[in-house]
Amino acid sequence: VIPLLEPELSGNEARYLLECVRSGLVSWIGPFVDRFEEAVARASGAAAAAATQSGTAALQAGLCALGVRPGDLVALPSYTFIASANAVALCGAEPWLFDVEPGSFWLDAEALALGLDRETRRDGQSCVHRASGRRVAALIPVCAFGAPPDLDPILEVARVRGISVLLDAAPALGARLGGRPLGGICELAVFSFNGNKTVTSGSGGAVVGSDPEAIARVRHLTRAARAGAGYAHDARALHTRMSNLQAAVGCAQLERLDLYLARKRAIRSRYAEGLAGLPGARIIEDPAHGTGSAWVSALLLDGPERVEELSAELGVEGIEARSFWQPIHLQPPYRSAPRCGTLEHAERVAPRVIALPSSVSLAEDEQDRVIEAVWKRLS
Ligand SMILES: Cc1ncc(COP(=O)(O)O)c(C=O)c1O
Repeated sequence: VIPLLEPELSGNEARYLLECVRSGLVSWIGPFVDRFEEAVARASGAAAAAATQSGTAALQAGLCALGVRPGDLVALPSYTFIASANAVALCGAEPWLFDVEPGSFWLDAEALALGLDRETRRDGQSCVHRASGRRVAALIPVCAFGAPPDLDPILEVARVRGISVLLDAAPALGARLGGRPLGGICELAVFSFNGNKTVTSGSGGAVVGSDPEAIARVRHLTRAARAGAGYAHDARALHTRMSNLQAAVGCAQLERLDLYLARKRAIRSRYAEGLAGLPGARIIEDPAHGTGSAWVSALLLDGPERVEELSAELGVEGIEARSFWQPIHLQPPYRSAPRCGTLEHAERVAPRVIALPSSVSLAEDEQDRVIEAVWKRLS
């Protein structure tokens, strides 16, 4: 079977893991955690990084560090992986769902500004939702398919209203916005190092930013907010700091980040060329304002009717291809979450996506098999 996304572990992973075992440093104290944080900060152009056990944990700790409290609202696009919303809920806050740009997958800055103008008011330093009286504490723009949304207008919308911004860049390590790496653009940004990401630590995440004090706050929270050497804690917080074992794998993977990114981009280009002119479908390209990490290559079909069928047909040929993120507001845990507008664009675009095999280890002849199979089924 040609898998959708599988890790490539042929570098120093085994050697570094053995070092952990031999040294006895398998938990969160150990040299690989520090090395991993330095490497992630460097790779993302940030001043500092705090490593966690998952991207979801990184989002949750990042939001807490920004001051998100129970009862707050946190704005985010409905087109995202459910972890973005779950992290908000884990803080005791409520996701407030916004739409993406028409025909696209990225948060619509104009709709965001209009919605906030219509539904919120300024109260001192805070932005308050008129109808519920809840504070809009933060905004989470999301890097769909590893590419950033157009952040400059989004940041301006947030800045003038006193809303903090945390970028969910889970699949976007290596992406750029107008030439800038993503680590220093928003107050905080989060990456995931789950097994299906370009670089993995098995399971893992990181919060990065340009303010070392904010990152120190995140790191403190991920150690169960332990204050000093004894069992004194100064906040309610989960222990989610990354382990030395996870970081060992992550360090080995980061040594090959440039190679992996080049492979991902080559895969994207080969699909775009090989599937050009396909009737009723096209490869989803990066948005004009940014360069993505090309984490996953996907087709956008003209309609949703063929997605499940195509996925099943490719499955029969030993090709793993799948439908992708479904809008948060259509999922049972968040059906009653507050929303801004109809979210029609997210609803229209989400069911038309099918993700194609995109592992860094995908061989050219395997990719050609995928391209040929797609042509056969769609023409
Ligand atoms: C946009 C987005 N946010 C958050 C996450 C959560 O990361 P993790 O699975 O490491 O918790 C993911 C993971 O796929 C993601 O794609």
